[in-house]
Amino acid sequence: MPVEMNLKSGEFILSSRTQLLSNSSDGFIQEVEFFQELMHGQLGLTLSENEGENQIEIIKNDRISGSEAYQLSIDSDRIRLEASDSKGIFYGMITLEQLIVSNSEKDEISGEFTLPALEIKDKPIYEWRGMHLDVSRHFFSIDYLKRYVDLLALYKINKLHLHLTDDQGWRIEIKKYPELTESGAWREFNQQDSICIERSKEDPRFAIDPAHIYEKDGKTIYGGYYTQEELKEFVGFAETRHVEIIPEIDMPGHMMAAIDIFPELTCNGESAWGDVFSTPLCPINEEVYTFVENVLAEVIDIFPSKYIHIGADEVDKSDWKKSAAVTQFMQKEGIEDYEALQSYFVNRVTDYLKNQEKEVVVWDDALAGGIPSDLKVMYWRNWVANVPEKTVANENELIISAGNPFYFSSPKTKLFNIYTKELIGSKFPEDKKNLIKGMQACLWTETIPSEALADAKLFPNVLVLAERAWSEESRQDWDSFKKRLKPQLDHLSKLGVKYEFTPSNELVPFMNVDLEKSSIGIRFETDLIDPVIYYTTDGSIPTTDSKPYQGEFYVEGSAAIVAAVFDENGAQEPYLRKDVDFHKAIGKPVIYEKPWNPSYAAGDAGTMTDGYRGGDSYSDGYWQGFTSDFLVTVDMEEVVELNSFSAKFMQLKGPGVFLPGSVEVWLSEDGENFDQVLNLKNDISPEEEKLTIKDFEGSLEGKSARYIKVKASNAQHGFMFVDELVVY
Ligand code: ACM
Repeated sequence: MPVEMNLKSGEFILSSRTQLLSNSSDGFIQEVEFFQELMHGQLGLTLSENEGENQIEIIKNDRISGSEAYQLSIDSDRIRLEASDSKGIFYGMITLEQLIVSNSEKDEISGEFTLPALEIKDKPIYEWRGMHLDVSRHFFSIDYLKRYVDLLALYKINKLHLHLTDDQGWRIEIKKYPELTESGAWREFNQQDSICIERSKEDPRFAIDPAHIYEKDGKTIYGGYYTQEELKEFVGFAETRHVEIIPEIDMPGHMMAAIDIFPELTCNGESAWGDVFSTPLCPINEEVYTFVENVLAEVIDIFPSKYIHIGADEVDKSDWKKSAAVTQFMQKEGIEDYEALQSYFVNRVTDYLKNQEKEVVVWDDALAGGIPSDLKVMYWRNWVANVPEKTVANENELIISAGNPFYFSSPKTKLFNIYTKELIGSKFPEDKKNLIKGMQACLWTETIPSEALADAKLFPNVLVLAERAWSEESRQDWDSFKKRLKPQLDHLSKLGVKYEFTPSNELVPFMNVDLEKSSIGIRFETDLIDPVIYYTTDGSIPTTDSKPYQGEFYVEGSAAIVAAVFDENGAQEPYLRKDVDFHKAIGKPVIYEKPWNPSYAAGDAGTMTDGYRGGDSYSDGYWQGFTSDFLVTVDMEEVVELNSFSAKFMQLKGPGVFLPGSVEVWLSEDGENFDQVLNLKNDISPEEEKLTIKDFEGSLEGKSARYIKVKASNAQHGFMFVDELVVY
């Protein structure tokens, strides 16, 4: 969706009789060649550059500011594409291709396309519009990478981050250390391969790609790597698509493929699994820096990109902690803790790369021990509070790769969620938004062993990322996107992309609490285009005699909403069930005697009385998490008559989330003298494994108070999650 688009009257007939006009001295020769390839794909032949019935004119216009900006005007006799830079020209050509794909039916007899007359002025909101591919966990051929770049370019993605090394395989030839690929690029099937093989019985896309399986010395081995020549050629190809290839050599952790070969690079001289991740490089060992610099020197020689990604995620420091030499080194250098020790490593590698005129990208884990403010930080850990705020507080530029929704390997990824999920919280400072460099989505391939499955995970999700990273927020609209998606899917099919899009009948509820009208607005979102939905507000099952959904509706007091998508066979699973209450405590202040856990702040101090209810996931942004007791007082702002109290808590034993031992409610008129009125006991065993949401509720009939104190004891000393103190 461009920044500005105005339809005019008239149309342009694009055919083999259309002429392509350009001035070779403008420096757009490569783009013109690319455009002719696109035209060949659509029309079956390239456009004449000498004569024609109507014209497409490519114009260098230095008054258009921004290298990626362009203007496109379509009139009945002429299309004019203008930009100051080859990038802008390229993106204008892509837009023209999108218009052909979206707007026009090819007339099969005349072989013509009809394009609407219009004016487009366009430029991206972010300079970093990235996709990623993990080629370590499973290997992908250089031909697949080229096809991937071609598809990314079609949606104006301009960065491809290649995760070239990890514990499970080293994929880039390093001439100084040929063992890295001679041995490190190969493995016998590992545990993740076994999972894939098992799943392939149901879904053949999980079969390990036979192109990367070999028999050697009587063993079956899996793997592959890219030679330096292949990579250089690939980078050159990507340049013609204005896609910058950013190499990642993940360090000091995620290095087992190299450390298996050179175990002397760890602090204890062994390659092993630590407490959580593989044993990392030893940050106090000079040989490590020699190795790293030798590797990076060759990486730099292959990749002209301004950026080198050095990972720095998920470093298992248990081995460092056991080393007396490390302790001594830290004392001598005044390094206070192991996070700072990791930063010592990151800083040394950064210094080397800066001397080579490169800029450094790291995963957000690197922030913990302090980093220089010129590193670019890739934010991936949704569950760590305030990463975006911490990043910009340190003046680092931020690339948003939040795992939810931007890890496309996740089975929970939904197109709707990728399109609409808030990426930075409301506390992100307005005056630091200029430090958001862009967005990137990732494809981790632990359980993605084939090109077909990679296609399915990438498309159409990439299109959503593309719109979020390019289009003004005010131009982003889910309903509009869904409608524009259909012709793109048809086009992807034509290009042989094995995309996966099975819109579900699931309805996602959104609430809009209106304090002035004392009501709650409810709307549903879905993957479906113009679905038929019926709903009830009394908990009964909807039928075609129930209320038809026609956009947002308002609920006063309490409602038990049940809604479903209907087709000719009636209501479709899954039903949506959602309780909403405009209760007496909504909008009232809550005073905390013990703080929430900062990783699960939900909406901070307002969240218990905001009317928004948590769903089935404690990380959905509505549940507030506590590792202490829960001890709060609601101030009703005046003495009010009371009828009932309830509060929902959650148990999910796996990750250590437990219900409280009991919930006590105390009332006061003056805020000083409290009387206990309820003691609600928990009757669910802490051994209960399945997700359990328990409503602790009790009657307050005949009582009145201004202050309502709630105490929930953290009996299991784990996490407690609570949402909404409902008072009537
Ligand atoms: C990551 O997912 N470990 C960056």
